[in-house]
Amino acid sequence: MSLRIVSLGKGIPAHRVSNDDLAAFIDTSDEWIRTRTGIESRYVCRDESLTDLATAAATEAIERAGLAPSDIDLVIGSTFEGDYLTPSLSCCVAERLGTQCPAFDLNAACTGFIFALEVAAGFVERQKAKRVLIVCAEMMSKHIDWHDRSTCVLFGDGSAAVIVEPGEALKYISISTSPNSEMLSLPVGTGNSPFVHHGKTKGFLAMEGQKVFKFAVNVGAVELSKAMSALGMTPEEIDYFVLHQANKRIIDSIRAKVGQPEEKFPMNIQRYGNISSVAIPLLLLEMWESDKLKSGDVLFLSAFGAGMTAGSCVIVWG
Ligand code: ACO
Repeated sequence: MSLRIVSLGKGIPAHRVSNDDLAAFIDTSDEWIRTRTGIESRYVCRDESLTDLATAAATEAIERAGLAPSDIDLVIGSTFEGDYLTPSLSCCVAERLGTQCPAFDLNAACTGFIFALEVAAGFVERQKAKRVLIVCAEMMSKHIDWHDRSTCVLFGDGSAAVIVEPGEALKYISISTSPNSEMLSLPVGTGNSPFVHHGKTKGFLAMEGQKVFKFAVNVGAVELSKAMSALGMTPEEIDYFVLHQANKRIIDSIRAKVGQPEEKFPMNIQRYGNISSVAIPLLLLEMWESDKLKSGDVLFLSAFGAGMTAGSCVIVWG
């Protein structure tokens, strides 16, 4: 297939918020959050903009690859919403980096990285781009209702960037949508138009937690079996299952269905919470930095998100 990952970078806010910090102003506890989600802390923007975080992630990825911004042929941003609805986050990052290549955002919620990888593969295969910079970035703290304990404890802010080039590492990729605007939604409102009859104000992220949970566990197992039958592989041949970091219990439930050992399911949700499409590239970066990833390791990446979107890929490291 068409591409390989050559570098990664991250941009994380300075301010860490523990479960106890949350319990100081909402009716929750460290014990509830840990046992129901696996989350111990998350990082939240105070002084940083989303463009700051995304530019930091992109710059680190470019420098680690030994490249210059002018070597990038395409910037794809993955976000619910950048610092502006327009220009896009990727345009803001491109301006800071000084690139002159096309830049646009896509929004597939938490599945955004897999969707971006699929789009990047298309550009690379058609030889419209050689090096693609994918920047996932999310300021979940501006989308959640900090008075709603059932959602605000789950999320965090951050960014992760990935550079891909032509290569043979991507063995399989699949994206899908099961349309549903009720299970997980974030209304943007209708502004102050005097003509609108169904006026809505900007809302907060709302979700039907248990339905999302069931969707996530089911789709994770289905995505894996689709990938395995397409490649003629078994789960035993996968070295790491790099899954969206939304809830440790979701990952544990998928692991129980797959019947593979715990050490094949890396996690960093305990430190970051759910950062939407940032989760998978950030986890990959940390595995890379800690020398966990060896050349030739076979990785199964899989995510789900609002939409409801889902996606997975099998990629060989190195
Ligand atoms: N602290 C203390 N108690 C709480 C909290 C909290 N933070 N949140 C909810 N509770 C209470 C509820 O009020 C309820 O109390 P009650 O029994 O008196 O009514 C009780 O805990 C149980 O609530 P449930 O909603 O049944 O808890 P559940 O075990 O389902 O866990 C959770 C909730 C963590 C949200 C779970 O359903 C989940 O993880 N769902 C998936 C969420 C997810 O993955 N979202 C991804 C978003 S992806 C994207 O695109 C943004």
